Amino acid sequence: MSKRPVVIDCDPGVDDTLAIFLAASHPELEIRAINPVAGNVGYESTSQNALRLADLIGIDCRVGRGAEEPLIAPCRTAGAIHGKGGLGGYELPEAKRDFDPDYAWDVLWQEARRAEGELEVVTLGPMTNLAIALTRYPELKKLIKKITSMVGTAGQGNTNVYAEFNAWVDPHACEIVFQSGIPIAMCGLDGNDTCTLSGEELYAIMERPSRITPVTRHVAHFIHERNTLQWHLPSSTIHDLVTMACFIDPSIATYEPCYTTCETRSSISAGQTVVDLYHVSGKAPNVDVLRCADKERFKAMLSEMMDWYTAH
Ligand code: RIB
Ligand code: CA
Repeated sequence: MSKRPVVIDCDPGVDDTLAIFLAASHPELEIRAINPVAGNVGYESTSQNALRLADLIGIDCRVGRGAEEPLIAPCRTAGAIHGKGGLGGYELPEAKRDFDPDYAWDVLWQEARRAEGELEVVTLGPMTNLAIALTRYPELKKLIKKITSMVGTAGQGNTNVYAEFNAWVDPHACEIVFQSGIPIAMCGLDGNDTCTLSGEELYAIMERPSRITPVTRHVAHFIHERNTLQWHLPSSTIHDLVTMACFIDPSIATYEPCYTTCETRSSISAGQTVVDLYHVSGKAPNVDVLRCADKERFKAMLSEMMDWYTAH
Protein backbone atom coordinates (compact mmCIF):
# COMPACT_ATOMS: atom_id res chain seq x y z
CA MET A 1 0.00 0.00 0.00
CA SER A 2 1.56 3.32 -1.00
CA LYS A 3 1.80 5.77 1.85
CA ARG A 4 0.35 9.28 1.89
CA PRO A 5 3.15 11.73 2.77
CA VAL A 6 1.89 14.54 4.99
CA VAL A 7 3.20 17.48 6.98
CA ILE A 8 1.08 18.52 9.98
CA ASP A 9 1.27 22.19 10.96
CA CYS A 10 -0.21 22.82 14.39
CA ASP A 11 -0.39 24.82 17.62
CA PRO A 12 -0.91 22.12 20.30
CA GLY A 13 -3.32 22.87 21.89
CA VAL A 14 -5.76 20.34 23.29
CA ASP A 15 -7.60 19.60 20.03
CA ASP A 16 -4.39 19.57 17.98
CA THR A 17 -3.17 16.85 20.36
CA LEU A 18 -6.13 14.59 19.66
CA ALA A 19 -5.75 15.22 15.93
CA ILE A 20 -2.09 14.16 16.02
CA PHE A 21 -3.05 11.00 17.92
CA LEU A 22 -5.58 10.23 15.18
CA ALA A 23 -3.11 10.79 12.36
CA ALA A 24 -0.44 8.63 13.99
CA SER A 25 -2.92 5.74 14.32
CA HIS A 26 -3.13 5.54 10.53
CA PRO A 27 -0.08 3.69 9.19
CA GLU A 28 -1.08 4.57 5.63
CA LEU A 29 0.04 8.10 6.45
CA GLU A 30 3.72 8.95 6.34
CA ILE A 31 4.02 11.88 8.74
CA ARG A 32 7.12 13.56 7.37
CA ALA A 33 7.04 16.49 9.82
CA ILE A 34 5.07 18.08 12.62
CA ASN A 35 5.65 21.82 12.39
CA PRO A 36 4.64 23.93 15.40
CA VAL A 37 3.48 27.53 15.26
CA ALA A 38 2.48 30.05 17.92
CA GLY A 39 -1.27 30.15 18.35
CA ASN A 40 -3.28 28.59 21.15
CA VAL A 41 -0.40 29.35 23.47
CA GLY A 42 3.02 30.88 22.93
CA TYR A 43 5.53 29.21 20.64
CA GLU A 44 7.63 27.95 23.56
CA SER A 45 4.70 25.78 24.65
CA THR A 46 3.30 24.77 21.26
CA SER A 47 6.74 23.70 20.06
CA GLN A 48 7.53 21.72 23.21
CA ASN A 49 4.09 20.05 23.03
CA ALA A 50 4.70 19.08 19.40
CA LEU A 51 8.13 17.64 20.21
CA ARG A 52 6.87 15.74 23.25
CA LEU A 53 3.83 14.37 21.41
CA ALA A 54 6.01 13.03 18.60
CA ASP A 55 8.16 11.34 21.25
CA LEU A 56 5.25 10.01 23.32
CA ILE A 57 3.54 8.50 20.29
CA GLY A 58 6.79 7.40 18.67
CA ILE A 59 6.34 9.19 15.35
CA ASP A 60 9.46 9.01 13.20
CA CYS A 61 9.22 12.55 11.86
CA ARG A 62 10.93 15.92 11.84
CA VAL A 63 9.78 18.70 14.16
CA GLY A 64 10.63 21.94 12.41
CA ARG A 65 11.32 25.29 14.00
CA GLY A 66 8.13 27.25 13.34
CA ALA A 67 7.01 30.86 13.42
CA GLU A 68 6.93 32.48 16.84
CA GLU A 69 4.53 35.19 15.70
CA PRO A 70 2.21 36.02 12.79
CA LEU A 71 3.40 37.62 9.57
CA ILE A 72 2.08 41.11 10.33
CA ALA A 73 -0.66 40.98 12.99
CA PRO A 74 0.40 41.23 16.64
CA CYS A 75 1.05 37.95 18.44
CA ARG A 76 -2.16 36.94 20.22
CA THR A 77 -2.74 33.62 21.97
CA ALA A 78 -5.60 31.82 23.72
CA GLY A 79 -4.07 30.40 26.87
CA ALA A 80 -7.31 30.82 28.77
CA ILE A 81 -8.94 28.40 26.37
CA HIS A 82 -6.26 25.71 26.26
CA GLY A 83 -5.10 25.91 29.86
CA LYS A 84 -1.67 25.97 31.40
CA GLY A 85 0.96 24.88 28.91
CA GLY A 86 -1.68 24.45 26.21
CA LEU A 87 -2.82 20.95 27.18
CA GLY A 88 -5.32 21.78 29.88
CA GLY A 89 -2.60 21.56 32.48
CA TYR A 90 -1.40 18.11 31.39
CA GLU A 91 2.39 17.83 31.42
CA LEU A 92 3.77 15.51 28.76
CA PRO A 93 7.04 13.72 29.50
CA GLU A 94 10.19 15.59 28.48
CA ALA A 95 11.16 14.91 24.87
CA LYS A 96 14.26 12.85 24.16
CA ARG A 97 14.54 14.19 20.61
CA ASP A 98 15.42 17.73 19.57
CA PHE A 99 13.92 20.04 17.01
CA ASP A 100 15.02 19.76 13.42
CA PRO A 101 17.91 22.14 12.68
CA ASP A 102 15.82 23.71 9.89
CA TYR A 103 12.95 26.14 10.01
CA ALA A 104 9.47 24.74 9.43
CA TRP A 105 9.16 26.42 6.02
CA ASP A 106 12.45 24.93 4.86
CA VAL A 107 11.38 21.52 6.15
CA LEU A 108 8.15 21.88 4.18
CA TRP A 109 10.04 22.80 0.98
CA GLN A 110 12.45 19.89 1.42
CA GLU A 111 9.70 17.36 2.09
CA ALA A 112 7.61 18.65 -0.82
CA ARG A 113 10.49 18.10 -3.21
CA ARG A 114 11.20 14.68 -1.70
CA ALA A 115 7.55 13.65 -2.13
CA GLU A 116 7.68 14.70 -5.80
CA GLY A 117 4.27 16.35 -5.85
CA GLU A 118 2.48 13.86 -3.58
CA LEU A 119 2.87 15.81 -0.33
CA GLU A 120 -0.29 16.87 1.50
CA VAL A 121 -0.38 19.48 4.25
CA VAL A 122 -2.77 19.62 7.21
CA THR A 123 -2.89 22.94 9.07
CA LEU A 124 -4.45 23.00 12.52
CA GLY A 125 -3.26 26.41 13.67
CA PRO A 126 -2.47 29.83 12.25
CA MET A 127 -1.08 29.34 8.73
CA THR A 128 2.08 31.39 9.20
CA ASN A 129 4.58 28.60 8.45
CA LEU A 130 2.85 27.60 5.22
CA ALA A 131 2.55 31.20 4.07
CA ILE A 132 6.25 31.81 4.68
CA ALA A 133 7.10 28.65 2.74
CA LEU A 134 4.89 29.65 -0.21
CA THR A 135 6.47 33.10 -0.25
CA ARG A 136 10.09 31.91 -0.01
CA TYR A 137 9.65 29.05 -2.48
CA PRO A 138 7.32 30.06 -5.36
CA GLU A 139 7.69 26.60 -6.90
CA LEU A 140 6.25 25.01 -3.72
CA LYS A 141 2.66 25.55 -4.83
CA LYS A 142 3.24 23.10 -7.69
CA LEU A 143 4.52 20.46 -5.28
CA ILE A 144 1.72 20.40 -2.69
CA LYS A 145 -1.03 18.01 -3.74
CA LYS A 146 -3.68 19.29 -1.30
CA ILE A 147 -4.06 21.35 1.87
CA THR A 148 -6.66 20.44 4.50
CA SER A 149 -7.08 23.24 7.04
CA MET A 150 -8.92 23.81 10.24
CA VAL A 151 -9.56 27.47 9.52
CA GLY A 152 -12.37 29.94 9.18
CA THR A 153 -16.11 29.63 9.04
CA ALA A 154 -18.94 30.36 6.66
CA GLY A 155 -20.93 31.38 9.73
CA GLN A 156 -20.23 33.04 13.08
CA GLY A 157 -16.67 33.31 14.37
CA ASN A 158 -15.42 32.05 17.71
CA THR A 159 -12.90 34.80 18.44
CA ASN A 160 -15.39 37.54 17.59
CA VAL A 161 -18.57 37.46 15.57
CA TYR A 162 -16.59 37.52 12.33
CA ALA A 163 -13.41 35.48 12.78
CA GLU A 164 -12.37 31.95 13.64
CA PHE A 165 -9.22 31.87 15.79
CA ASN A 166 -6.64 30.45 13.33
CA ALA A 167 -7.64 32.95 10.64
CA TRP A 168 -7.86 35.77 13.19
CA VAL A 169 -4.34 35.20 14.54
CA ASP A 170 -2.78 35.44 11.07
CA PRO A 171 -5.25 36.67 8.42
CA HIS A 172 -2.45 37.61 6.00
CA ALA A 173 -1.09 34.06 6.06
CA CYS A 174 -4.58 32.68 5.55
CA GLU A 175 -5.14 34.90 2.50
CA ILE A 176 -1.78 33.93 0.99
CA VAL A 177 -2.77 30.27 1.27
CA PHE A 178 -6.31 30.85 -0.06
CA GLN A 179 -4.92 32.64 -3.14
CA SER A 180 -2.08 30.14 -3.77
CA GLY A 181 -4.02 28.06 -6.30
CA ILE A 182 -3.29 24.89 -4.33
CA PRO A 183 -6.34 22.62 -3.81
CA ILE A 184 -7.52 23.41 -0.28
CA ALA A 185 -10.25 21.94 1.91
CA MET A 186 -11.40 24.39 4.57
CA CYS A 187 -12.85 22.62 7.62
CA GLY A 188 -14.40 25.60 9.32
CA LEU A 189 -16.30 25.98 12.56
CA ASP A 190 -19.71 25.52 10.98
CA GLY A 191 -18.85 22.41 8.98
CA ASN A 192 -17.04 20.83 11.92
CA ASP A 193 -20.06 21.49 14.15
CA THR A 194 -21.92 18.73 12.30
CA CYS A 195 -19.68 16.35 14.27
CA THR A 196 -20.21 17.87 17.70
CA LEU A 197 -20.13 15.32 20.57
CA SER A 198 -21.97 15.10 23.87
CA GLY A 199 -19.95 14.44 27.01
CA GLU A 200 -21.27 10.89 27.06
CA GLU A 201 -20.20 10.28 23.44
CA LEU A 202 -16.79 11.89 24.00
CA TYR A 203 -15.90 10.16 27.26
CA ALA A 204 -17.11 6.75 26.03
CA ILE A 205 -14.41 6.95 23.38
CA MET A 206 -11.60 8.91 25.05
CA GLU A 207 -11.70 6.90 28.28
CA ARG A 208 -11.29 3.55 26.55
CA PRO A 209 -8.18 1.85 28.00
CA SER A 210 -5.06 2.39 25.90
CA ARG A 211 -1.54 3.74 26.28
CA ILE A 212 -2.74 7.25 25.39
CA THR A 213 -5.81 7.28 27.63
CA PRO A 214 -4.14 9.30 30.42
CA VAL A 215 -3.83 12.13 27.88
CA THR A 216 -7.09 11.66 25.97
CA ARG A 217 -9.13 11.40 29.20
CA HIS A 218 -7.56 14.58 30.63
CA VAL A 219 -7.93 16.55 27.41
CA ALA A 220 -11.48 15.37 26.71
CA HIS A 221 -12.64 16.37 30.19
CA PHE A 222 -10.81 19.69 29.95
CA ILE A 223 -12.50 20.49 26.61
CA HIS A 224 -16.00 19.36 27.56
CA GLU A 225 -16.02 20.83 31.06
CA ARG A 226 -14.79 24.15 29.64
CA ASN A 227 -17.48 24.07 26.97
CA THR A 228 -20.35 23.12 29.26
CA LEU A 229 -19.47 24.79 32.56
CA GLN A 230 -17.72 27.92 31.26
CA TRP A 231 -19.46 28.48 27.94
CA HIS A 232 -22.78 26.71 28.65
CA LEU A 233 -22.58 24.76 25.39
CA PRO A 234 -24.53 21.48 25.21
CA SER A 235 -21.77 19.60 23.36
CA SER A 236 -18.16 19.81 22.13
CA THR A 237 -16.82 20.24 18.62
CA ILE A 238 -13.17 19.20 18.57
CA HIS A 239 -12.29 21.20 15.51
CA ASP A 240 -8.79 19.91 14.74
CA LEU A 241 -9.93 16.33 15.26
CA VAL A 242 -12.83 16.66 12.79
CA THR A 243 -10.45 18.29 10.33
CA MET A 244 -7.91 15.47 10.63
CA ALA A 245 -10.67 12.89 10.17
CA CYS A 246 -11.78 14.66 6.97
CA PHE A 247 -8.18 14.65 5.75
CA ILE A 248 -7.70 10.96 6.52
CA ASP A 249 -11.01 9.91 4.96
CA PRO A 250 -12.35 12.62 2.65
CA SER A 251 -15.39 10.41 1.92
CA ILE A 252 -16.90 11.37 5.30
CA ALA A 253 -16.96 15.02 4.24
CA THR A 254 -19.26 17.03 2.00
CA TYR A 255 -17.64 20.13 0.53
CA GLU A 256 -18.94 23.09 -1.48
CA PRO A 257 -16.39 24.73 -3.81
CA CYS A 258 -16.62 28.47 -3.10
CA TYR A 259 -14.69 31.63 -3.85
CA THR A 260 -13.24 32.43 -0.44
CA THR A 261 -11.02 35.20 0.86
CA CYS A 262 -9.73 36.21 4.27
CA GLU A 263 -10.26 39.81 5.35
CA THR A 264 -6.92 41.41 6.22
CA ARG A 265 -7.56 45.17 6.30
CA SER A 266 -10.65 45.81 8.40
CA SER A 267 -10.06 46.88 11.98
CA ILE A 268 -13.39 45.26 12.80
CA SER A 269 -13.55 42.01 10.81
CA ALA A 270 -9.92 41.11 10.09
CA GLY A 271 -9.67 37.32 10.01
CA GLN A 272 -13.17 36.83 8.64
CA THR A 273 -13.22 34.12 5.98
CA VAL A 274 -15.59 35.57 3.42
CA VAL A 275 -17.19 32.54 1.77
CA ASP A 276 -19.18 33.07 -1.42
CA LEU A 277 -21.52 30.24 -0.53
CA TYR A 278 -24.16 31.23 -3.11
CA HIS A 279 -21.68 32.01 -5.89
CA VAL A 280 -22.81 35.61 -6.31
CA SER A 281 -19.34 37.05 -6.87
CA GLY A 282 -18.93 35.46 -10.27
CA LYS A 283 -15.42 34.49 -9.18
CA ALA A 284 -14.12 30.96 -9.63
CA PRO A 285 -14.09 28.82 -6.47
CA ASN A 286 -10.65 28.51 -4.86
CA VAL A 287 -11.59 26.69 -1.65
CA ASP A 288 -13.61 23.54 -0.93
CA VAL A 289 -15.66 24.55 2.11
CA LEU A 290 -16.80 21.80 4.49
CA ARG A 291 -20.57 21.82 4.83
CA CYS A 292 -20.96 18.62 6.82
CA ALA A 293 -19.15 15.46 7.88
CA ASP A 294 -20.65 12.06 8.71
CA LYS A 295 -20.76 12.04 12.53
CA GLU A 296 -21.24 8.29 12.94
CA ARG A 297 -18.26 7.55 10.71
CA PHE A 298 -16.28 10.22 12.58
CA LYS A 299 -17.06 8.52 15.89
CA ALA A 300 -16.12 5.13 14.41
CA MET A 301 -12.74 6.57 13.37
CA LEU A 302 -12.16 7.76 16.95
CA SER A 303 -13.04 4.35 18.34
CA GLU A 304 -10.68 2.71 15.86
CA MET A 305 -8.00 5.17 17.01
CA MET A 306 -8.32 4.03 20.62
CA ASP A 307 -8.30 0.38 19.49
CA TRP A 308 -5.08 1.05 17.60
CA TYR A 309 -3.35 2.46 20.69
CA THR A 310 -4.55 -0.53 22.67
CA ALA A 311 -2.85 -2.82 20.21
CA HIS A 312 0.26 -0.73 19.46
O1 RIB B 1 -10.79 27.97 16.18
C1 RIB B 1 -10.36 26.68 16.55
C2 RIB B 1 -8.92 26.50 16.20
O2 RIB B 1 -8.13 27.44 16.91
C3 RIB B 1 -8.37 25.13 16.60
O3 RIB B 1 -7.35 24.79 15.70
C4 RIB B 1 -7.80 25.37 17.94
O4 RIB B 1 -6.73 24.46 18.26
C5 RIB B 1 -7.24 26.75 17.78
O5 RIB B 1 -5.97 26.62 17.14
CA1 CA C 1 -5.16 24.18 16.60
